[in-house]
Amino acid sequence: MSVAIITGSAGLIGSEAVEFFASKFDKVVGIDNNMRQYFFGEEASTDWNKVRLENSISNYEHHPMDIRDYAAAEKVFQKYGSDIQLIVHTAAQPSHDWAAKEPLTDFHVNATGTLNLLELTRLHAPKAVFIFTSTNKVYGDNPNYLPLEEKETRWEISEQHPYYTHGIDEHLSLDHTKHSVFGSSKVAADIMAQEYGRYFQMNIGVFRGGCLTGPRHSGAQLHGFLAYLMKCALTKKPYTIFGYKGKQVRDNIHSRDLVELFWHFYQAPRQGEAYNVGGGRFSNCSMLEGIQLCEQITSNKMQYSYSETNRIGDHIWYISDMSKFRKHYPGWTWKYNLEDTLTQMFEEMKKRV
Ligand SMILES: NC(=O)c1ccc[n+]([C@@H]2O[C@H](COP(=O)([O-])OP(=O)(O)OC[C@H]3O[C@@H](n4cnc5c(N)ncnc54)[C@H](O)[C@@H]3O)[C@@H](O)[C@H]2O)c1
Repeated sequence: MSVAIITGSAGLIGSEAVEFFASKFDKVVGIDNNMRQYFFGEEASTDWNKVRLENSISNYEHHPMDIRDYAAAEKVFQKYGSDIQLIVHTAAQPSHDWAAKEPLTDFHVNATGTLNLLELTRLHAPKAVFIFTSTNKVYGDNPNYLPLEEKETRWEISEQHPYYTHGIDEHLSLDHTKHSVFGSSKVAADIMAQEYGRYFQMNIGVFRGGCLTGPRHSGAQLHGFLAYLMKCALTKKPYTIFGYKGKQVRDNIHSRDLVELFWHFYQAPRQGEAYNVGGGRFSNCSMLEGIQLCEQITSNKMQYSYSETNRIGDHIWYISDMSKFRKHYPGWTWKYNLEDTLTQMFEEMKKRV
């Protein structure tokens, strides 16, 4: 029997991975304790998504387990042993603002939880492919010291800079920078995942996401920028822009494109390789541009206000250079641009919100 374990299986990336890998493996085992509701409140609960997966995917088995609980996780790994061929680890405390409220919880979920899973994989399924969803916050606020120029609707990097054409690559330093508490717990997990790949020669890929997005995101103010923006546009709820004149730029990759990319990695894995992943130059926007697109798609005028204070450690301009991944896996490319993603979100949210 072939088994894939997906942690954070009711979240945005986890649920997309469950749906994708259900046709590729005999069984998909999901782990998710809906901790997203604890982090961000009722509106961010992923329970609806868990129920949807359980009702629609016959080879899906859900475990409402906490990845911090080593003994409980070990039971799952013991049960399936070497049948486990893939682990997609997406469960996390994903917000840098929230992390400062409870640094211990943040670290235990993001760093210790990841170590638990790496170690269980080493002990019970050392040949499996392990995919870790890291973040561009591992680079801390280093991107903010790039030569940025203010344009009409966005910040942009100087055309003379090597990052102009494709974006920021994996050589940006992780050091001498303010990461936020969240960024730091993810650095710990990111480095440990790379180390398990290199030291123990395990098949491990580390994927440092820009904004990961898609119609299944349970968007909340503190996490899930595009999903929350679209929710506000749709429900006419006020939206607050924090700092940088609303011209801060993020690149956005659709969850389906990301999971498709995991599949490419699975078929020809490397040992402890780290990649930047995001929408790149193909799919990105500033807050102001995102608002404009949401208004166009919903035909609603958004009610937004501006607060001078930016979020601590927030990036002013971040576009992921995916050249390394695309060189290693030339068969992969993006399918969904920003407008496709927002339109899908709109259609999906109309049913849900
Ligand atoms: N969404 C983004 O913009 C973004 C950007 C960069 C990196 N990432 C990373 O990608 C991964 C997936 O992000 P997402 O947007 O799908 O997040 P998400 O919050 O939608 O999904 C994560 C899921 O993990 C679950 N979870 C949290 N703590 C848990 C625990 N202790 N035990 C079991 N389950 C737990 C949550 O309930 C949630 O359903 C995370 O590691 C995140 O840090 C996300």
